[in-house]
Amino acid sequence: MSIYELALEKVEKQIYCINEDYKKIYNYEIVDHIMKRIKSPQSIIDKMKKKNYELNYKELIENINDIAGIRVICKLRKDVYDIRDLIEELEEFKIINEKDYIKHPKKSGYTSYHLIVEVPVEFDNTTIFVKVEIQIRTLAMDFWATIEHHTKYKAKNKISKRNARKLVTYAKIINKLDEKMLDLLDSK
Ligand code: GTP
Ligand code: MG
Repeated sequence: MSIYELALEKVEKQIYCINEDYKKIYNYEIVDHIMKRIKSPQSIIDKMKKKNYELNYKELIENINDIAGIRVICKLRKDVYDIRDLIEELEEFKIINEKDYIKHPKKSGYTSYHLIVEVPVEFDNTTIFVKVEIQIRTLAMDFWATIEHHTKYKAKNKISKRNARKLVTYAKIINKLDEKMLDLLDSK
């Protein structure tokens, strides 16, 4: 697991650098805060079983992309895209997959921008490439995702149709609010 920790630290450091550089130029903290986690061995096994993968390292390395995960929370929707572009500019990381759930929200209502990047890590005198999942979202999107996750967790993953519908409505409200906040800042 330590290779994932090293990769995660590298990504976190670079995100802090992006924030510092941005602050110097625009006098604005583009990153509000960062959260990171390493998936527990039990959750990895659960996920592999759920997706019908054989329980071996080859399957794990090839198919499980979110063992190392970092969440970058920002204030405005345009910040999400600016952060994404600044990550793309980093030569060290290679984006191998991305999903724009802001332009294309999930059925649940979930919105966020997801990237899977490959990060070079020195281990045993060789360079290995480790995948890290980066989720970029606004404070409002994070608020929604946190409550939705909590609701699901409390209902043991069997959220009622009524509550699911409510959550989709609330996601739309959040989306509108993110838009209004942008308009507010653009106007005098
Ligand atoms: P996973 O097998 O869940 O990792 O799906 P995936 O590989 O297709 O990735 P996807 O981009 O759909 O989502 C990965 C991660 O995004 C999840 O582990 C969650 O952290 C987050 N996520 C995705 N959908 C939802 C959702 O409906 N609600 C919340 N709260 N989080 C979500
Ligand atoms: Mg996941």
